[in-house]
Amino acid sequence: MKSKTQIYLAPFQGITTYTYREVYTRYFDGVDKLFTPFFTGIQKPNSLAKRAFEFNFIKQNNVEVVPQMLSKDAVELTKFANFCDKKGFKEVNWNLGCPYPRVANKKRGSGMLPYPDMVGEILGQVMPNTSIKFSIKCRLGYFSENEILDLLKVYNSFDISELTIHARLGKQLYKGEVNHEAFKKALSLSNIPVVYNGDVFSKSDFNAFNLQLAEINTWMIGRGLLVDPFLPMKIKGLLKLSLEEQSDVIYKFITDLYLAYRKKNSNRLQSIGGVKELWGSLAYSFGEPQRVFSKIKKTSSFDDYEEVVASVFKEFSWLGSDAGLYKKKLNKE
Ligand SMILES: Cc1cc2nc3c(=O)[nH]c(=O)nc-3n(C[C@H](O)[C@H](O)[C@H](O)COP(=O)(O)O)c2cc1C
Repeated sequence: MKSKTQIYLAPFQGITTYTYREVYTRYFDGVDKLFTPFFTGIQKPNSLAKRAFEFNFIKQNNVEVVPQMLSKDAVELTKFANFCDKKGFKEVNWNLGCPYPRVANKKRGSGMLPYPDMVGEILGQVMPNTSIKFSIKCRLGYFSENEILDLLKVYNSFDISELTIHARLGKQLYKGEVNHEAFKKALSLSNIPVVYNGDVFSKSDFNAFNLQLAEINTWMIGRGLLVDPFLPMKIKGLLKLSLEEQSDVIYKFITDLYLAYRKKNSNRLQSIGGVKELWGSLAYSFGEPQRVFSKIKKTSSFDDYEEVVASVFKEFSWLGSDAGLYKKKLNKE
């Protein structure tokens, strides 16, 4: 029998901020670990200053936080891991998945996946010099899903605590299909506990993937959870609310998030920017998502934003992820 389903919140630069994680975990159950968006350039003076306070929270509302680092510098990675260890974190995560050209072209993130020797060299320098749990988040490869086969030989030779694989290639960015066959091959070759990531947008996606990937019981979920914050509870069978009641909770959640951003940004107008980023996904849980988002996007003052949000909850019904509107949008792209 499968053991209990575990769900991790995927990191999103600019969206799953400290503030988002704090408000999210206050409202919703079902997430077992929170990954921070990546930290980078920690060697530079003051580079951590803006986000330094985050290191004071090893848990948020009792959910474990895992700081993530993007780097190809073994000294920097070791320093980051040991710094997090000292702060009391149980685990750090190395980002080998970021696909953006300005990252990947410099052999960072998923850009390092075609170079298993380089990955091995870095791990060879980091692992003996740190004792905190060290996990990796990667893709199947950058150019080809064969890359993961050589990478696994490297990963398996180190004490990596967990390996999250986004079942896509770096060159795909976020487009095209996830490749479950290649993922399953990787899973069969891994000595490390593997976490599945990619395209779980609804409870029915989860059910289908769960059948295909019988050995997986830990899932990292990103966009599906941004679209429908109840998704982990739906997957775990923890949600007993009607759609109308869900809509009320979502309204409270998004309002609290907005107020938390205002507080954090000393009431500067940029606070709306933080919630608008999330609305880009959240809108797809409402009927007529494009209309919802275009209304929100246009707002340019606090009063305007508050009025438009109130009208959205009055005029458009909250449908949640079961309506599949986000997937429809992706299929059209
Ligand atoms: C705007 C954006 C920002 C992201 N930031 C990060 C990041 O900081 N670290 C990371 O490991 N992945 C990052 N990701 C990737 C997601 O964590 C996740 O792996 C990806 O969306 C696939 O999962 P999903 O299909 O459940 O969304 C980002 C993705 C997007 C679209």
